[in-house]
Amino acid sequence: MKNPTPTVLRRLETAARKAARHAYAPYSKFPVGAAVLTGSGKIYTGANVENASFGLCNCAERTAIFTAVASGERRLRAVVVYTPTKTATSPCGACRQVIHEFGPQTRVISVCDGRERIDVSIETLLPGAFGPADLGSV
Ligand code: THU
Repeated sequence: MKNPTPTVLRRLETAARKAARHAYAPYSKFPVGAAVLTGSGKIYTGANVENASFGLCNCAERTAIFTAVASGERRLRAVVVYTPTKTATSPCGACRQVIHEFGPQTRVISVCDGRERIDVSIETLLPGAFGPADLGSV
């Protein structure tokens, strides 16, 4: 799938930064925003949503991806994650697996309030991933 243009990447980054404002993170006090670019070219956003039952916390990336998929999207091209920190934050293992499900070549970009920026492929973050293709080979 073709690489997003610099203009689209800027839009994604702005959307991820804005999405963090809606984070519900009273326990961790670690707000996160995410924006995903889908195969159709649309952008969906999400924030982390925590719960008093800590194990039910949902990351910003998965909120955004589930919103996209529930809207009919099936393909991810890029994921941008924003944290209001000095260094960039990479998606957790669960989110890496979910990103891989909908785009085994998705570009994953992490931005923050500092100068650091991580820009890698999901293949780098989750090498040798288990995915839909493995189930097809039974
Ligand atoms: N979190 C995310 O939303 N995305 C990440 O990439 C890392 C962690 C959230 C989960 C939890 O609400 C808080 O950050 C602290 O782990």
